[in-house]
Amino acid sequence: MKKKVKIPQHIAIIMDGNGRWAKKRNLPRVFGHKEGAKSVREITKNCAKIGVKYLTLYAFSTENWKRPENEIKFLMGLLKNYLDKEKKILIKNNIRLKVIGNKTKLPLEIIKKIKEIERITKNNTLLTLILALNYGARDEILNAVKNIAKDIKRNKIEGNKITENLFEKYLYTKDVPDPDLLIRTSGEMRISNFLLWQIAYTEIYVTKTLWPDFRKKELLKAIYDFNKRERRFGGI
Ligand code: FPP
Repeated sequence: MKKKVKIPQHIAIIMDGNGRWAKKRNLPRVFGHKEGAKSVREITKNCAKIGVKYLTLYAFSTENWKRPENEIKFLMGLLKNYLDKEKKILIKNNIRLKVIGNKTKLPLEIIKKIKEIERITKNNTLLTLILALNYGARDEILNAVKNIAKDIKRNKIEGNKITENLFEKYLYTKDVPDPDLLIRTSGEMRISNFLLWQIAYTEIYVTKTLWPDFRKKELLKAIYDFNKRERRFGGI
């Protein structure tokens, strides 16, 4: 009898290899980002189609500000363009947008667009698309600790009553279940400061495929691989 394929409830992706994709074709790095944005669209569409409920994409890290100014500018422009075009598609397809990370450092017009789309799509239920922008897991954890300290000072919580559940409420990902599957493209075996708290029991899948080449077929391959794993969450 054929076994039913288990669809991960939450997939998180470290989208890597845009620069190398462009270099292989003797093109400037930004062409890789442009093609990578097409993968973002295709993977979102397909996750929604097959029943993934949360998709988290690492689009810009707290460390990415170290890149050359023109590349940062290009990425922000691409993001603005993406938000402008995607607004309609997200609404039409019942997809909710959520952004995690320190939004305050992003260009003002991008902050405004994010807020608007988050507001309009907040009741959408097919898929939650989470974009990690100016995101760093250490920054997220420190931010949580600072806010917990503030709430202790204001007598809102008691220091000796901090549990894992309470701590999670202070993370950017509050109310989002932990990822079941973490995908990293382009073959690097690193976590790169992504969702350090949330991936405690996540299955990791690394593929040599570069992000601009990561499309539907690659997504399904990752999900089939996930189906071979036996998840014990520390039990036997
Ligand atoms: C990693 O490739 C990719 C990024 C740092 C940015 C991710 C951005 C996109 C996929 C495009 C736009 C995103 C949205 C949401 C519209 P890299 O530049 O580190 O590649 P390399 O390691 O080969 O140099």
